[in-house]
Amino acid sequence: MEWTEAMSVGNDVLDDDHKTFFDLAKIILDVDADNGNTIVFQSALNMLADYVNGHFLREEKALRAVNYPHFDAHLQKHKAFRQHVMKIVQEYGEGKNDDIRNLPGLVVSWLNQHILAEDMQYKFWIKEKFVDKRPLAFLAVEAETKG
Ligand SMILES: [Fe+2]
Ligand SMILES: [Fe+2]
Repeated sequence: MEWTEAMSVGNDVLDDDHKTFFDLAKIILDVDADNGNTIVFQSALNMLADYVNGHFLREEKALRAVNYPHFDAHLQKHKAFRQHVMKIVQEYGEGKNDDIRNLPGLVVSWLNQHILAEDMQYKFWIKEKFVDKRPLAFLAVEAETKG
């Protein structure tokens, strides 16, 4: 459950986002396993939600800017995963704990699959000047205000 050089999409900002996704999955797994600090756990979930929103927007903006030919399909993949994660996070917030244990595994297997199969396809399309380099929090806010 780790980012490897083979997962590099050739852009440091996007690679860093992907690395952080793995770190967040690890935190969620560790804290949950310890049955420990709910504040840490909840803030890791909030960060994951921000990463899903912010990273996807960062990628989508960069792909749209170069008229990436598989843009629509890529967008749909992001959308489906975003809905899935948000549903689990929301249900956990409502006291339903059924799916939360599966969340780290779900994130890691989705990441492995999505980065290697989908993100890798844009490796030679992406242009650095079109990648929004602002800290992810700005993109998360932008994604949320867009709805
Ligand atoms: Fe990605
Ligand atoms: Fe992607």
